[in-house]
Amino acid sequence: MKSMKLLGYLFVFMLLTFNAYAVTCTTGNCHTDIMKNQFTHGPVSAGQCNVCHAASEENYKKHSEKPKSFIDFASPTGDQPVCIMCHDNKVDGKYVHAPVTDGSCTTCHNPHGANNKYFIIGKKESDTCFQCHENNKTVKKFLHGPVAVGECASCHDPHASDYKYQLRDAEDKICYKCHNDKKGDFNNKFVHKPVKEGCTKCHDPHNSDVPFHLNAKSEKDLCMSCHKENKNLSKLVDNAKFQHKPVASGECAQCHNPHASAYGKLLKSDEKNVCFECHGDIGKRVKESKYVHGPVASDGCTACHNVHGAENPFILKMAFPKKFYNQYVDGLYQLCFNCHNDDVLKYPNTTKYTGFRNGDRNLHYLHVMIKGKGRSCKACHEVHASNQQNHVRKSVPFGSGGWELPINFTKTKTGGSCVVGCHKPKEYDRLNPVKYTE
Ligand code: HEC
Ligand code: HEC
Ligand code: HEC
Ligand code: HEC
Ligand code: HEC
Ligand code: HEC
Ligand code: HEC
Ligand code: HEC
Ligand code: HEC
Ligand code: HEC
Ligand code: HEC
Ligand code: HEC
Ligand code: HEC
Repeated sequence: MKSMKLLGYLFVFMLLTFNAYAVTCTTGNCHTDIMKNQFTHGPVSAGQCNVCHAASEENYKKHSEKPKSFIDFASPTGDQPVCIMCHDNKVDGKYVHAPVTDGSCTTCHNPHGANNKYFIIGKKESDTCFQCHENNKTVKKFLHGPVAVGECASCHDPHASDYKYQLRDAEDKICYKCHNDKKGDFNNKFVHKPVKEGCTKCHDPHNSDVPFHLNAKSEKDLCMSCHKENKNLSKLVDNAKFQHKPVASGECAQCHNPHASAYGKLLKSDEKNVCFECHGDIGKRVKESKYVHGPVASDGCTACHNVHGAENPFILKMAFPKKFYNQYVDGLYQLCFNCHNDDVLKYPNTTKYTGFRNGDRNLHYLHVMIKGKGRSCKACHEVHASNQQNHVRKSVPFGSGGWELPINFTKTKTGGSCVVGCHKPKEYDRLNPVKYTE
């Protein structure tokens, strides 16, 4: 259809070629600029001025004699754009762009030619757009690739489109035109709900003050704009007494993949490895130790830590003291006793609840309850992983100089022995209690 139309008018066009006066418009000192473009429009390069500027021979004569005072050129198409003589009127689409509806083809195109292929007026495409649209699209710190080079029409059809916002494709597909390499990442087991709704839920297609073209003040604001109704999360993220550095600084994407993931909760890798990415020392210990504490091995780090922030030191979910020496009070070791029976600690004398005793003397009680100088569980136990039985640790950090106090624990059938820096080497025996001299 379209090419038929073009052919039809080409015929008219050729007839007019024989019009003697046409070629003279750009000779001498007249209208020479029109021919100076790098790209010249077909009918113009053929010298066919009057295909579009219809003038009677008489009027043309008057014009060439008195160019400034007599101009009477009519459009052969009347109110319609002259372009539609040879081109499609460009209105095919559910959404026709206003200037096309108005027939103002020349707001964007120079009918004669220009220094670009499509005779776009201005230096680049975007210059045409900002004649009418407010330029809030190239003013921020980060410009999206195609916007930076002014190619608005890479996403928008400047004429007509079947998609809202004059887009060349549906809003949830347009991005793949160029980011097809990302597509695989989104076909993961867990896809973040807003990703299915469209990339622009989070990205500004034009410009942004935030890296990755996010459409919020910061990554954190972006995430929280939707997740603030998770009261627990927002309370922690903003006001936790003990904050986790990457959360407090709003780097949610350090742990979460904002698009999709093969792991639950959109984590970048399985829950432990996500942590080991930054806590490599603990990762090394967990991977290389003989005994890994049950919850670390099975549930992962979040069995004890609230990764987004907590009311307890070490971002622990429940109470556990920060210090090595403590005055014992009930609830001080709530974390441990959430899973373990606190009978191991309760009785000064017992013959059943704990193996850490000398005869019936409860050595847990002795160490932990001692007035003013009760030891924390971590004085003897390594909560993550260790190489000694009963999760007894190899050494304890002592003081702030980085010195490690060694603990050599030997287990026997009925007790054990400790060679430590805290006291002389000591043994304990549940059946035949050791008599201590001091
Ligand atoms: C394809 C149609 C077309 C052809 C061919 C054409 N013009 Fe035009 N010309 C226009 C239109 C449309 C305008 C009005 C532009 C506007 O609305 O801004 C125009 C405007 C002009 C103007 C006034 C504005 C200006 O750019 O200075 C001059 C002079 C002019 N044309 C000369 C010529 C000459 C000389 C030729 C032949 C070498 C020619 N035109 C060929 C469509 C055409
Ligand atoms: C007399 C016929 C005729 C008229 C009227 C006409 N054009 Fe053209 N136009 C052509 C021809 C011929 C070409 C060259 C076709 C090609 O190279 O594919 C062309 C090429 C173009 C191109 C470049 C297309 C491309 O694919 O490279 C644009 C843009 C264009 N015209 C816009 C316009 C606009 C805007 C108007 C109205 C102001 C207009 N044309 C009026 C005949 C016309
Ligand atoms: C808002 C600006 C704007 C308006 C108005 C506009 N165009 Fe375009 N046109 C462009 C841009 C930008 C391109 C080049 C990008 C593209 O679409 O490939 C283009 C490309 C073209 C092309 C060549 C490519 C194609 O799609 O065939 C033709 C022909 C064309 N326009 C004709 C017209 C006609 C006829 C009108 C009026 C009915 C018109 N344009 C109105 C901006 C505009
Ligand atoms: C002659 C003025 C004019 C020019 C030039 C122009 N536009 Fe428009 N545009 C309008 C008008 C008027 C509307 C319809 C009013 C509205 O919805 O904002 C519109 C609507 C749009 C819309 C849809 C907005 C919406 O909210 O649905 C987009 C997208 C758009 N234009 C992009 C562009 C791009 C890209 C360019 C440059 C290639 C451009 N416009 C050039 C006048 C223009
Ligand atoms: C990467 C694709 C892409 C490019 C390039 C692009 N846009 Fe858009 N634009 C969109 C999408 C998607 C929307 C839909 C609304 C939204 O989510 O912001 C839109 C919306 C718009 C709107 C209507 C809503 C608004 O924000 O005002 C206008 C006008 C617009 N764009 C103009 C432009 C102009 C001008 C350029 C070139 C400087 C441009 N666009 C470049 C994708 C793009
Ligand atoms: C016309 C091609 C094109 C389209 C369509 C497009 N982009 Fe881009 N995008 C680019 C280019 C080019 C870059 C810059 C690449 C670079 O710097 O590595 C880019 C960069 C980005 C970046 C930043 C990447 C980084 O590593 O910093 C994001 C985010 C992005 N685009 C999102 C989108 C979204 C969302 C859409 C759909 C609304 C979209 N893009 C559509 C071409 C495109
Ligand atoms: C829930 C919000 C959200 C949605 C929806 C979203 N993104 Fe992103 N995207 C982000 C965040 C946050 C980053 C920055 C990631 C980082 O800091 O590592 C990002 C980064 C990117 C990057 C650059 C980094 C990379 O992974 O290559 C591209 C490209 C990108 N997004 C494209 C898309 C596309 C395409 C879509 C739609 C299919 C989309 N995004 C949907 C939030 C989102
Ligand atoms: C546009 C709204 C929106 C934005 C922005 C957003 N999310 Fe979401 N997010 C959702 C919705 C909706 C769900 C699905 C909730 C559900 O199924 O209960 C979800 C689910 C999640 C889940 C999975 C929860 C689960 O139970 O598996 C995580 C993790 C998540 N988002 C993190 C983020 C992060 C990190 C960001 C910032 C990069 C972010 N979200 C930005 C809307 C959003
Ligand atoms: C240090 C890693 C890490 C960082 C940083 C992080 N998260 Fe998480 N997030 C996790 C882990 C692990 C889980 C799953 C376990 C849990 O719910 O505690 C999770 C779960 C979630 C959930 C699902 C909660 C639910 O109730 O199901 C959302 C939503 C979420 N995070 C949002 C965020 C937001 C928003 C940020 C940034 C402010 C963020 N996360 C920063 C590791 C992190
Ligand atoms: C992006 C890097 C990063 C990731 C990933 C990360 N952390 Fe952290 N974490 C830190 C930084 C930085 C600190 C602060 C260290 C400091 O102050 O010495 C910290 C501190 C901690 C602390 C000690 C808090 C305190 O009060 O001393 C714990 C516990 C912790 N992280 C657990 C986790 C867990 C569990 C995960 C996995 C869900 C995780 N981290 C993932 C960077 C990270
Ligand atoms: C059984 C509960 C529990 C589990 C499960 C657990 N932690 Fe801890 N974590 C603690 C306790 C208690 C402390 C504070 C005592 C200490 O410093 O050893 C701590 C301290 C930390 C610290 C800060 C002190 C340091 O050694 O750097 C980091 C970091 C940490 N844990 C990371 C992790 C990671 C990563 C995981 C998952 C592999 C994990 N935790 C699993 C209980 C746990
Ligand atoms: C989420 C539950 C949970 C929490 C919290 C927890 N543990 Fe455990 N713990 C276990 C499980 C399950 C085992 C058995 C598997 C194993 O040996 O690691 C265990 C084993 C132990 C053992 C070895 C027991 C034996 O019979 O050899 C010690 C010692 C220990 N935990 C100390 C602690 C300390 C100290 C804390 C507090 C910082 C703590 N646990 C917090 C679940 C927990
Ligand atoms: C002075 C070192 C020391 C301290 C402090 C200590 N433990 Fe122990 N714990 C041991 C030793 C040694 C064993 C192994 C006893 C045996 O089986 O011979 C043990 C065993 C355990 C067991 C296995 C069950 C049992 O009692 O035999 C649990 C559970 C346990 N400890 C929890 C804790 C908790 C919780 C704390 C802090 C409230 C704590 N321990 C403090 C040295 C200590």
